[in-house]
Amino acid sequence: MGRLEGKIAIVTGAARGTGEATARRFAAEGARVLLGDVLDDRGKAAAAGIGPAALYQRLDVTSEGDWEAAIERVTRELGGLDVLVNNAAVLELAPIEHTSLDDWNRLITVNQTGPFLGMRAAIPALRARGGGSIVNISSIDGLEGMCFAGAYSATKWALRGLTRCAALELGRENIRVNTVCPAGGSDEMVARWRAPGAEDATGYTAKRALPRHGELDEIVAMILFLASDESSFCTGSDYPVDGGHSCGSYLAALPEGDG
Ligand SMILES: NC(=O)c1ccc[n+]([C@@H]2O[C@H](COP(=O)([O-])OP(=O)(O)OC[C@H]3O[C@@H](n4cnc5c(N)ncnc54)[C@H](O)[C@@H]3O)[C@@H](O)[C@H]2O)c1
Repeated sequence: MGRLEGKIAIVTGAARGTGEATARRFAAEGARVLLGDVLDDRGKAAAAGIGPAALYQRLDVTSEGDWEAAIERVTRELGGLDVLVNNAAVLELAPIEHTSLDDWNRLITVNQTGPFLGMRAAIPALRARGGGSIVNISSIDGLEGMCFAGAYSATKWALRGLTRCAALELGRENIRVNTVCPAGGSDEMVARWRAPGAEDATGYTAKRALPRHGELDEIVAMILFLASDESSFCTGSDYPVDGGHSCGSYLAALPEGDG
């Protein structure tokens, strides 16, 4: 018996990376899944690869009309909605001084307004099934700061605030809302943190208790837990999957001159 047996889910940004891996795992655990993305060819291929439990729909998370159509389709073709994973996001790295207003606004629209529109559209469908789970994908950059990630980090912090408000508003209707804060994801996004040809030229993972990027299946395991009834008493919280990134900085030895 799968951990999501009989559940119906929408996963945004599911054409690749964390979203695709989440949709694949959800189906393996007994769910039927609508994969949404703006990369139509990859999204269709991902759904086909998962099999009959999956279908693809173009779902630009910034579009109210696309959200309406996705909820309508998941209700008509799959029978309702139990789980929404707001995973789609975009990343731009630049010093704040050199961040254009266009980039700032684009990140807010996709990463912050997208999950808001998704939750707003999904609530009536979740309510109609007697409750459900919303999993918003934030980041370690939603738990702390990071050079050159000002716009991205701002959106991921905002998502944690939105999550808390939604959890309070919806708890009495048995709708739970949480964030996952990963340190790691798709190769495409992880590559943007690295200098070309370097394993980790920024030293970005070196401070961690577990000094590496997270693997997709490690991140998906937490998304699955929060989507499933196993997390029935968890709401309004953040769940880092970060190898200890947010717990502090590792030092191999005392700094010179100390001790
Ligand atoms: N990769 C990492 O290191 C990392 C770390 C922390 C958090 N995250 C978060 O994990 C989530 C998944 O990221 P990933 O690593 O799989 O990256 P990714 O770039 O491979 O996946 C993001 C997906 O979102 C889609 N997308 C972009 N704009 C969209 C839109 N307007 N509407 C619908 N879909 C859209 C993209 O096409 C892509 O398929 C994101 O929320 C990201 O911020 C990633």
